[in-house]
Amino acid sequence: MTTTSRIALVTGGAGGIGRAICARLAADGYTVVLADLEPDAAAAELGAVPQVLDVTDPLSRRAAVARADELGDTDLLVNCAGVLRDARIGKLEAGLFRRLTEINLLGPLALTRLVAPGMARRGRGAIVNLASRAWLGTFGSTAYSTAKGGLVGATRSLALELGGAGITVNAVAPGFVDTPMTDALPPKIRRRTLDAIPVGRAGTPEDVAGAVAYLAGAGYVTGQVLVACGGRSIGDPHVA
Ligand SMILES: NC(=O)c1ccc[n+]([C@@H]2O[C@H](COP(=O)([O-])OP(=O)(O)OC[C@H]3O[C@@H](n4cnc5c(N)ncnc54)[C@H](O)[C@@H]3O)[C@@H](O)[C@H]2O)c1
Repeated sequence: MTTTSRIALVTGGAGGIGRAICARLAADGYTVVLADLEPDAAAAELGAVPQVLDVTDPLSRRAAVARADELGDTDLLVNCAGVLRDARIGKLEAGLFRRLTEINLLGPLALTRLVAPGMARRGRGAIVNLASRAWLGTFGSTAYSTAKGGLVGATRSLALELGGAGITVNAVAPGFVDTPMTDALPPKIRRRTLDAIPVGRAGTPEDVAGAVAYLAGAGYVTGQVLVACGGRSIGDPHVA
């Protein structure tokens, strides 16, 4: 398949939020490379280009970027692949901490290194990282919060470094969004979390996709974290 349209490479494209991002970007006119561990079914459903990707594997990352570049100009990288599995500090083993960091932080940075030179050559490009409201601090999620907090720091630093080359780097920090990732939460935690959201509902993947699409095209906005959390980062609506 050869095209001349703008290419968007979306990691984690087969997940709850990733699918909505791919659908939204396709509607916005991008040719979407849907990259994930098992991309085929989601890509077929959305009419995207499937690409097997493990963000922790250097060869796999290179193959994904090469595939996108082959199709046209990779103008947009959305780093959406992520995992939440975490533990309280007493049970947080180094291996789990490392794994969460590799997927949620080091993968996105390595992919940025691969796409940035082409974007810089063309003098245009956008990178949108899926952080999380959790970077502000979340009970029992030290590894996840640390990785997402690192991603926020990287987003801001890279915006400074790449801005002169015409590349924007931003992050979306979703709050609680209904996806396979949050399905696993115990009902009691889920109820309490929903109760603490000022707009009174969980976010939808489409809510997040809208924020990503905005940042993908907001050429004068860079180094920003767009918190899409229904107001939860402001405070608890039940506490005066
Ligand atoms: N759902 C939420 O409430 C929420 C809140 C804040 C941030 N986020 C972030 O949004 C992003 C998407 O989350 P989601 O809710 O859609 O989760 P999800 O579990 O539905 O999707 C995550 C996707 O990432 C893929 N993935 C995992 N490890 C990978 C790897 N090594 N290489 C390539 N792909 C890999 C999975 O296969 C999956 O398709 C994540 O970065 C997550 O941390 C989600």
